[in-house]
Amino acid sequence: MAPDGSPVGLYRAFPAGREPRIIHEAAPAAAAILELGCGAGRITHELAALGHHVVAVDQSAEMLAHVRTGTRIHADVEALALPDRFPVVVLGGYLVNTIVPGQRDAFLETCHRHVTGDGLVLVQRTSPTWAAALKAGQTVRSGPMVVTITEARLEAGVLRAAQECRHGDTTWTHAWTDVVHSDEEFGKIVEAAGFALARWLDRNREWAALRPLPH
Ligand SMILES: C[S@@+](CC[C@H](N)C(=O)[O-])C[C@H]1O[C@@H](n2cnc3c(N)ncnc32)[C@H](O)[C@@H]1O
Repeated sequence: MAPDGSPVGLYRAFPAGREPRIIHEAAPAAAAILELGCGAGRITHELAALGHHVVAVDQSAEMLAHVRTGTRIHADVEALALPDRFPVVVLGGYLVNTIVPGQRDAFLETCHRHVTGDGLVLVQRTSPTWAAALKAGQTVRSGPMVVTITEARLEAGVLRAAQECRHGDTTWTHAWTDVVHSDEEFGKIVEAAGFALARWLDRNREWAALRPLPH
């Protein structure tokens, strides 16, 4: 289990899905990409196969041990201070929805200090529409993974949820808490962090492309 409660085995086994394509299509060809909260490399490996060099950062050594490509950095995102800037910085894994006080703004600050002036920060957030529709008992299939929601309570903008993920004979349980932002709140948060919301990258408005504004 990573310190944030993400099961390592689950993130190793979970299919990459649509995320690598969304990132790839927003990024310049063969871009250097800084991936914050890379987990076990689910997205990292696909981005490398699509021609990008990925610098993959995670605070969990157990997660990072499964990243087979690019450059691996064991660090807390909040404290990251690399000498390089990147044309693309990815803050995936719904890290922007953290409930830990001050952490969201620290994550966005890290994105700002590592992106080039004309670069893009790609943020994956919990869609408010998705969060409102989430109900215990729902089951979705993602490739070989069968995911059953076992808890979903959205109260005062905070989603407390849990899921059981079954892959063959193995089942992982994963509970998480997200602060859910409306589109308007999200716009204000990124603006306060020194970004302009350039565009949404998907119909669900889960992925946003941000342009840095000069600090
Ligand atoms: C939900 S998992 C997603 C992993 C990966 N992005 C994916 O989609 O497969 C979140 C990851 O972020 C990492 N993480 C959470 N908080 C972090 C922090 N403050 N600094 C660095 N890594 C963090 C966790 O260790 C975990 O690997």
